Amino acid sequence: MAHIYPSLISAPPLKLQATITSLEPYCSGFHLDVMDFHFVQNLTWGPAVINAIRQATSHNIWVHLMVDDPQKYMSVLELTTRDILSVHLEAISSPEIIATIKNKGWRASVAINPETPLEALEPYFSLVDDILIMSVRPGFSGQSFIPHTLDKLKELKKIQDAEKYTFTISMDGGINLSNIATVINNGATNIALGSALFNGDPVKNIQKILGVL
Ligand code: DX5
Ligand code: ZN
Repeated sequence: MAHIYPSLISAPPLKLQATITSLEPYCSGFHLDVMDFHFVQNLTWGPAVINAIRQATSHNIWVHLMVDDPQKYMSVLELTTRDILSVHLEAISSPEIIATIKNKGWRASVAINPETPLEALEPYFSLVDDILIMSVRPGFSGQSFIPHTLDKLKELKKIQDAEKYTFTISMDGGINLSNIATVINNGATNIALGSALFNGDPVKNIQKILGVL
């Protein structure tokens, strides 16, 4: 079963609570992009806002750290045991950080950029709860889905099936009404959706998207 996570970077910033409340009936949780102006050329929320959003919903939170020093951010986040924390492979130096995330009781996810080959993930396959395949270059919502990332998804699914790995597969970036079914049919279960929901009425948009799944 697929899980839809509205990406709140695209939501009106002064209406976060109302947005969360209106989308809760239709989604599994909320995706929070954390950017530091170093790892990517954009800046979003700090820990105070993230921890407040955590308190604002009974749904899961999926924090996507696009920062140079994920460890530092992790130490100030107050998540719960069903929440997901994605750290970028390009920002970490060794698999030890996975144990740190798991010791906090959170679901440990490793994200990879479109240019990073799957082979780089090998040391992580048996350790993580989730792998996030980025389908755009991280930094901004509203970009187009990069087609070769679909091949990467298919390849990862093959590896997962062959080796019986237990991680889930997530995808984030450029997913919309016309490609979401393909992404899900090829093995992604956690889907972040930004502009596809927030360009226009998010409730109508999410209802339409659920209608094609
Ligand atoms: C990109 C972010 C995505 C983004 C999704 O850096 O990680 O979560 O907000 O937005 P869309 O769906 O518009 O690509
Ligand atoms: Zn994201």
